[in-house]
Amino acid sequence: MDVVDAIRSRKSIRGFKPDPVPKEVLWEILDIVRRTPSARNTQPWNITVVAGEVLDNIRQGNIEMLAGGVEPNPDFPRKPYEGIYRQRQVDLAIQIFKLMDIAREDTTKRAEWRERGLRFFDAPAVIILSIDRSVDKTLSLLDIGAFVQTICLAALNYGLGTCINNQGLMFPEVVRKYAHIPESRLIVTSIAIGYPDWGFPANKLETERESLENLVTWCGFA
Ligand SMILES: Cc1cc2nc3c(=O)[nH]c(=O)nc-3n(C[C@H](O)[C@H](O)[C@H](O)COP(=O)(O)O)c2cc1C
Repeated sequence: MDVVDAIRSRKSIRGFKPDPVPKEVLWEILDIVRRTPSARNTQPWNITVVAGEVLDNIRQGNIEMLAGGVEPNPDFPRKPYEGIYRQRQVDLAIQIFKLMDIAREDTTKRAEWRERGLRFFDAPAVIILSIDRSVDKTLSLLDIGAFVQTICLAALNYGLGTCINNQGLMFPEVVRKYAHIPESRLIVTSIAIGYPDWGFPANKLETERESLENLVTWCGFA
């Protein structure tokens, strides 16, 4: 697949076919993706791939934490967005809820959608990225970002869809327990991966982007 086509066509997939992703395919993708650049070639990514019973246990554990009213405690605490960033977040939710036919006041359906995120959208496999507590966080998070996007692009070559997912990492103790990620590592992000169910309404979403005119400052050009 042409790299520009891949960048243009990649989008988040939140509904998957139940078909498992063969380990050999995931291996091949990760073997390509390990070429991702990193600061000083430190390659800070630790990759944990979960499927089957282990993934089911994580999903179940997440739902139990949520149902038990446990306060989310991700390894990288979130800060609420403000201004234009908050607006874009709201716009995304409006678009998804419209496609999924979830009314603003329908708290039951909204809660179901939230649970779906905590279940990694029922994807057949999830790739979890973690870093050693000892490494420089700023640079390592940049490295992980590059790694994650490269996974999402490479996956397209195998007919796979992805959604980067931080919702499923709200209760890191659950992920640590079942995926055997030691306390010495911080869980950064994850990618739900599988074969897209193109009939799933939210997969029709085409998100917007700010125009280049509003993004770029050109310096030294005529
Ligand atoms: C760091 C990161 C975390 C994300 N976490 C979630 C998540 O927990 N749940 C979700 O539905 N989407 C998540 N996304 C997907 C974004 O919502 C999505 O990339 C964005 O809306 C742009 O849409 P697109 O991927 O279809 O282009 C995440 C994306 C990134 C980069």
